[in-house]
Amino acid sequence: PQITYVDHDGHQTRVDIPLGENVMRGALYNGIEGIVGECGGGLSCATCHCYVDEDWVDTVGGPSSDTEAELLEAVATELRPASRLSCQIEITSALDGLIIHLPETQF
Ligand code: FES
Repeated sequence: PQITYVDHDGHQTRVDIPLGENVMRGALYNGIEGIVGECGGGLSCATCHCYVDEDWVDTVGGPSSDTEAELLEAVATELRPASRLSCQIEITSALDGLIIHLPETQF
């Protein structure tokens, strides 16, 4: 599925990410800055914060667990309704075309 990452300056990068991967690893594998993913997807760092594009919020849904919801409280930039931890967004065929906005910083 194709995922588009939009950085804080509005620069867009579209990449193809294999099914079963997640939005955090998709960014790292493709050299996209703006996602750090310090804990490697272990749901303990909150440096993979992203904003799901408003057109995709309903499809992607909210935090996948209480732990994600709690960790979101610790993100470095503004917490918004569309905030997610990108390591918790699994790539499925339903997400083909997904647009992800990257925060200015993860620290
Ligand atoms: Fe650490 Fe997502 S990579 S919480």
